[in-house]
Amino acid sequence: MSGATREMTQRVSTAFEAHFGAPPEVTATAPGRVNLLGEHTDYNGGYVLPMPLRGLGVAIAMGRGGAPGGIEAWSDTFHTAETRAITEGREGRWSDYLLGCIRAEAAAEVAEQGLRVALITTLPMGAGLSSSAALEVACLRALAALYGRAPSPVEIAIRARSVENDFVGMPCGIMDQFASSIGDPGNALFLDTRNLDYQPAPVPADHGFAIVHSGTSHQLTEDGYATRVAECAAACEALGVEMLSDLGPDDLGRLAALPDLLGRRARHVITENRRVLDGLEALKAGDMVTFGRLMSESHASQRDDYDITVPETDALVEAALAAGAFGARQTGGGFGGAVVILAAKTAIEPLGATLVERQPGARLLAIT
Ligand code: GLA
Repeated sequence: MSGATREMTQRVSTAFEAHFGAPPEVTATAPGRVNLLGEHTDYNGGYVLPMPLRGLGVAIAMGRGGAPGGIEAWSDTFHTAETRAITEGREGRWSDYLLGCIRAEAAAEVAEQGLRVALITTLPMGAGLSSSAALEVACLRALAALYGRAPSPVEIAIRARSVENDFVGMPCGIMDQFASSIGDPGNALFLDTRNLDYQPAPVPADHGFAIVHSGTSHQLTEDGYATRVAECAAACEALGVEMLSDLGPDDLGRLAALPDLLGRRARHVITENRRVLDGLEALKAGDMVTFGRLMSESHASQRDDYDITVPETDALVEAALAAGAFGARQTGGGFGGAVVILAAKTAIEPLGATLVERQPGARLLAIT
């Protein structure tokens, strides 16, 4: 366990005891992630290259107790306590993520005994760093520990995604839950979302990433994300394929037959899949100049073809490149949030500091 994880675990135990008057029975943590390449490809059966974050994540403490059928949940981030019934549906509150996991995993036990949960997070919400996936994975890990079950990390990722899809109502792919459950913080993870084949992809030690929040936060359950999912489905139907990732660079000519908007959406997915494969090769070869170029091309594709960047993330990417970064791109679901910037290890800290100083509202979230 890293120092940061141990500290989060201690903090959440202390918070649980302060709030509920007794120590927790179990604790669990899960990291957030930054995505290096492969945006909006996961629900299209494509490739992704996320990297779980060291020291940025969610910690959960749990214990049985309270009224049968009730869940008492407390969070430092939301500064609130919420009480839910195990029979409830989603209500658009932060505790929905917990409730969805608990209903999927331990409905019978909680109906009998009640459950108390404390949660702390060191991840900013709405930054595109997978705060909700980390919450789900930490919650499922804690439930497994509390009720003596041993799901595999892949099973946890699959369950967490279905909570998000079926209970929370966000039609996401599996990248975030997979990165949080399976990945090794500080190392990239290549995943083929079609068959869940994966492999670690270590980042050369003489390079680093800065993660800078643009100051504009997204809310993925709002329209934009679901609209992109629907547009990809419409492009598939028009092209007669099951998934956009059934198509490769040789098929780009076929997109001319589509309405402009659908053609651009499909082009993003096809070219982004290629960038992930090329990026994996570049990482293996230690060719970070190529990796950086692919990141910047990915940003341009998100901006021009997928229409999911905002002026604040575009400006940060441009400023990072002008200041000598190898590459930069908006990361995560989009419509704002954070950008990830690649540079030589010795240059990355001053670069991050300069960008934050120059762009109003921007703030440095991590150097990794
Ligand atoms: C969000 C979703 C992921 C993925 C990204 C975009 O983070 O949860 O499944 O689609 O957006 O790449």
